[in-house]
Amino acid sequence: MTKAIILSGGWGTRLRPLTCTKPKTLIPIVNKPVIERQILLLKSAGVKEIVLAVSVMDDVIKNYFREGEKLGIKIHYTGEKHPKGTAGAMKLAEDYLKDDNFFMLNGDVILNYDMGEMLKFHEKKKGIGTIAGKTVDDPSRYGVLIVNNETHQLLKFLEKDEYSPPNGKIVPMPINAGVYILESEIFSFVEPNKKVSIERQVFPRVANEKKLFYYPLTGIWNDVGKPYDLLQGNILLMNDLINKLDGKVKNLIDYSANIHPRTEIYPPCTIGENVVIHSDCKIGPNVVIGDNVLIENNTELSNCLIYNEVYISNNVKIEKAIIADNCNIRENVILEGNNENLVILASYVEVLNNLELIASKTISLTVCHHEVVNESMK
Ligand code: GTP
Repeated sequence: MTKAIILSGGWGTRLRPLTCTKPKTLIPIVNKPVIERQILLLKSAGVKEIVLAVSVMDDVIKNYFREGEKLGIKIHYTGEKHPKGTAGAMKLAEDYLKDDNFFMLNGDVILNYDMGEMLKFHEKKKGIGTIAGKTVDDPSRYGVLIVNNETHQLLKFLEKDEYSPPNGKIVPMPINAGVYILESEIFSFVEPNKKVSIERQVFPRVANEKKLFYYPLTGIWNDVGKPYDLLQGNILLMNDLINKLDGKVKNLIDYSANIHPRTEIYPPCTIGENVVIHSDCKIGPNVVIGDNVLIENNTELSNCLIYNEVYISNNVKIEKAIIADNCNIRENVILEGNNENLVILASYVEVLNNLELIASKTISLTVCHHEVVNESMK
């Protein structure tokens, strides 16, 4: 029976300060942690047992999922005192996984597709591994896959710093989507008790043996490496979830939300449990609001993520921003990011009355957790 391992032990440095208080893989994507969404997709493909390879803030992840009772799937954990790298983490789970093939996922990718189809493809190819790839316009930020389009054989696996575009011209290429299916033979490629990268030290060797295949991923894909990816990924998944409904639904609004009739919602928006929005607000487009959020009168939100237990007072404008749990935003405040950079408030930030926090074109504007902002920042 196919099992799975999800890598959940990285530092998430590019998402700081959001990841100072929450591990990256518990960051919500349309109001559910990114790995919870992955676990549910694996469960739909028939997976019944999963290993979470945890390290940084492992206790927070264990407390959230426990043994998987809430999701109806068996969850095991492996731990690393210091992150052992992607293959090192996999090697630690060998005893759980060695009986059959298994899925391996980077715990920071947003997906929404039938993983059972990839499994069928893998079993037909009879390689040691299948790597899901996504073709993107600018592959320079990712590991690039050089493939034979007819046989689907993966000829070369090049990490970000090993790939240079032909004649310096950026062209669309399939990139490593961080989703694999592997046979247990893969363990023989990894030395135990060492920090080992599957991308740099294992896949190139398996590709040399012609036993690595490429599966073109259908459906949405986005990693949540940087804050802007997080916003884009939420919008992408929200649109995908809405499109898969009956066509009449334009927003995902929990039945418990209490929205004043003079407030307008511009789709697509997601609104979580027990949210109260008072009158004359404009919410949307591209807004995800978590649970237990209170928004007072005449406030405007667009292109932003508001996590749980946030308070937003009267006459506030928030655009291109991420507001983490328990923030408190007082009256007449403007928080404004732009297409290059967002305004990011970590958890428990308080922004006092009549302030403006505006990100510049070159740097994002970030406030660390528990800070009180008492003067405007640009
Ligand atoms: P950055 O520090 O911002 O690069 O993020 P990251 O540390 O999460 O690294 P990266 O994006 O490369 O990791 C991809 C996935 O693998 C994430 O889900 C990480 O949690 C996970 N991961 C990365 N390194 C390790 C590791 O050494 N051990 C484990 N268990 N997981 C890891």
